[in-house]
Amino acid sequence: MNARRTRGRPPTPIITQPGRQRPADALVLFGATGDLAKRKLFPALYHMEDRGELDVPIVGVARSDWTDSDFRDNAIAAIEASFPPAQPGRKKSGPKASVLKRLSRRLDLVQGDYADVTTWAALKSTLDEHGSKTAVYYMAIPPSMFPTVVESLASVGLNDRGRIVVEKPFGRDLASAHELNNVLHAVFPENHIFRIDHYLGKESVEDLLVFRFSNALLEPVWNRRYVRSVQITMSETIGVEGRGSFYDSVGAIRDVFQNHLLQVVSLLAMEPPVGHEASYLQDEKAKVLAATTALDCSTLVRGQYEGYRLEPGVAPKSKVETFAAAKLEIDSWRWAGVPWYVRVGKGLAQAATEAVVELQSPPRMLFDEAGGPAPERNLIRLRLGKRDGVTFHLQAKTPGPHLDSESVDVSVDFAATLGDRREAYERLIGDALVGSPRRFAREDTVEQMWRIVDPALSERSPAFPYPIGSWGPKEADSILENGDSWFAPSV
Ligand code: NDP
Ligand code: BG6
Repeated sequence: MNARRTRGRPPTPIITQPGRQRPADALVLFGATGDLAKRKLFPALYHMEDRGELDVPIVGVARSDWTDSDFRDNAIAAIEASFPPAQPGRKKSGPKASVLKRLSRRLDLVQGDYADVTTWAALKSTLDEHGSKTAVYYMAIPPSMFPTVVESLASVGLNDRGRIVVEKPFGRDLASAHELNNVLHAVFPENHIFRIDHYLGKESVEDLLVFRFSNALLEPVWNRRYVRSVQITMSETIGVEGRGSFYDSVGAIRDVFQNHLLQVVSLLAMEPPVGHEASYLQDEKAKVLAATTALDCSTLVRGQYEGYRLEPGVAPKSKVETFAAAKLEIDSWRWAGVPWYVRVGKGLAQAATEAVVELQSPPRMLFDEAGGPAPERNLIRLRLGKRDGVTFHLQAKTPGPHLDSESVDVSVDFAATLGDRREAYERLIGDALVGSPRRFAREDTVEQMWRIVDPALSERSPAFPYPIGSWGPKEADSILENGDSWFAPSV
């Protein structure tokens, strides 16, 4: 069964946009020559330009020996490459020339070494030429460079003229995240620090909040009394895709578990925020994360896909995990005793990001005629990946003389029902420009997330090998309790 959208106007998020700051009048892009800029940021900026949502100059900063015109050409090439390839019988769609032209006119490059004071003086005078008073500084650079950029901005007084966007990973562990927070707070107030987790920019992830708290039918069962387990899977079929050297220095736990997956856990597990201000949402996330026990080495299994060590940039004897499965416990009134199983991995059988909430069996089997099948437990499957939506797995009577039940799915595909949505980076850049902090991570939530994974970072358990295209090492089953098994993702 498919649901239909019943209202004509766009849905309104529960948490609106208070706490906004002065809109930015310039976007400064550190790492303008990099992979993230190429694959995500320029395509996002193109779509924003196309919709008329961009009205600021974009100043790239690069050590690479690029001119303004190299910068523009590379941005255009990146945007063109982001359009889907030609299909048989269909022409390749591409960017609109008029939009590219408008966007190109916004692009300037400041070229220079970050260690050189003249680079920062040049950046300041470029911003002055644009008449900028409030810039967004986007650090799309290796995390090792974050402190240099932050301190250099302060050395020329630019910290007082803007807010900073910090890419992930935010630190390597709790201690370094804390240290990075100190570096940032030395020159920027917390409300001018925008920590990116692009999962927070996904409509499907934000929907967890709206879905939970705008459907009264869910709240009565959303607790330890009715929920038997929660499973969250983020499975990718791809490997490290040219990012071997980066990936081998982090691994799956730092790359996605500490940030994307724990953000999903917090949205699913938190109490309702007490009001619409962004800080109330952050408060509830921080509380539920504080109630989450740190990873326990006895309930964590790591894996590494076969062939990973042959990837360019990966150490030949690397022990870094490309897969992790863990059981989390949330020691709160709502969740005590409910296992939260989380697994993430690359080189797996299917690309999916899903959360499955499994409800308890009904208390009495009224219909357990001899020989009849027992009803399966209800599942609420929240699909957060490409074909996002929600599916309720319910029980209905099997046609025939017996009182047997079978599974039926009530499913909504959000894109089909609600229409296309914007990509995460478009939303996040837009938020940073208008100064809305809601879809960014706060200092305390980031540190709580590191606290949860910290024991697993220093622990040296083996990374069990698993074949590409499988569901990870079979050892991952060992963390499941009560005869549970992993649910296969639906799409
Ligand atoms: P890249 O390795 O492509 O580097 C980005 C840019 O940073 C380079 O183009 C380079 O520009 C500059 N740079 C690199 N090393 C140094 C250095 N030692 N000193 C000064 N500048 C340096 O990184 P990505 O674009 O992949 O990642 C950027 C940020 O985004 C990172 O924090 C990463 O974790 C994060 N991220 C990336 C994702 C991705 O898919 N790529 C996904 C999610 C987050 P130049 O030398 O010209 O100044
Ligand atoms: C990034 C990770 O943050 O998220 C990548 O660094 C991962 O390793 C990516 O592939 C997944 O994002 P998405 O939006 O494709 O689920």
